[in-house]
Amino acid sequence: MLPIQPGILDPVPALARYVVFDLESEAGPGPSLRRLVRSVDPRGTVVGIGRSTALALGRDVPGLRDFPAGTGRGIEMPATHGALWCFLRGDDRGELVHRTRALETVLAPAYRLNAVLDAFRHGEGRDLTGYEDGSENPTGANAVAAAAVPGGGVGFEGGSFVAVQQWIHDFGRFDAMSRDEQDASIGRRREDNEELDDAPPSAHVKRTAQESFDPEAFVLRRSMPWAEGARAGLVFVAFGRSFDAFEAQLNRMMGLEDGVTDALFRFTRPVTGAYYWCPPVKSTRLDLRALGLD
Ligand code: HEM
Repeated sequence: MLPIQPGILDPVPALARYVVFDLESEAGPGPSLRRLVRSVDPRGTVVGIGRSTALALGRDVPGLRDFPAGTGRGIEMPATHGALWCFLRGDDRGELVHRTRALETVLAPAYRLNAVLDAFRHGEGRDLTGYEDGSENPTGANAVAAAAVPGGGVGFEGGSFVAVQQWIHDFGRFDAMSRDEQDASIGRRREDNEELDDAPPSAHVKRTAQESFDPEAFVLRRSMPWAEGARAGLVFVAFGRSFDAFEAQLNRMMGLEDGVTDALFRFTRPVTGAYYWCPPVKSTRLDLRALGLD
């Protein structure tokens, strides 16, 4: 079994926090990251390293690139890079608050908290539109094969690349669509999650059908709904052995392949977008040897 962070493979938790840190001081991130390794349990917290962190340590992790900001017909795909990303898994919101504070302390002075987003499981794992999310996720050995880097040597094998995007739903627009239009925009029936045989090419599951790409484009999605005041949507989170599968899906969603844009854009849009490298683990701790930190 590849030494991938266990929180990547575990099913989505009841509650989560996505926390992004910026690099703050010129002192260098090394000491903060060493403290992070000593204090974080990878079963409860998934850690992603931003490219700016790797570069600050004089390292360039092969495969870790910048999130591709882009535009399509009426579509904006922003890039909002971060230096460090933590996906805190839990079931008690207060505990997540205190774990966030503890992270801030451990990571200071090199890192400064930039953004916190609280997320939650809805039903058995539904998007806030009511559609089941994650049905076509690979499981077991296939999940590991999709998400974990299979080689590359010490400190790289078992790593994973994660794409993270916060999407904001426009529920007014979604509610204005008939149920048939809603089902057609996803390509599945909300009632029983059955795939529609006659789904249009713009249907989300037609755009992203993992087996339809050459090479096949499998990712391990761990997306969760978020809500803040009156705004709400989905935090899209996809782990891959590289960013290639995600990018192939995203390009097709944006219509860059055939001019057909994903029907999802009728009622939701991304407001952030970032790539991180999730280092492997060594026994029960994060393994940062690829960054030169033993
Ligand atoms: C707000 C944004 C999004 C929503 C609400 C959403 C929702 C869904 C739903 C309901 C399904 C069908 C059930 C399932 O297999 O999980 C699905 C499938 C899928 N989505 Fe999304 N999704 C979103 C964004 C994205 C993005 C940005 C990507 C990748 C660039 C993506 C990739 C996929 C993939 C790969 C599948 C499975 C397709 C298959 O192999 O059948 N999704 N999504």
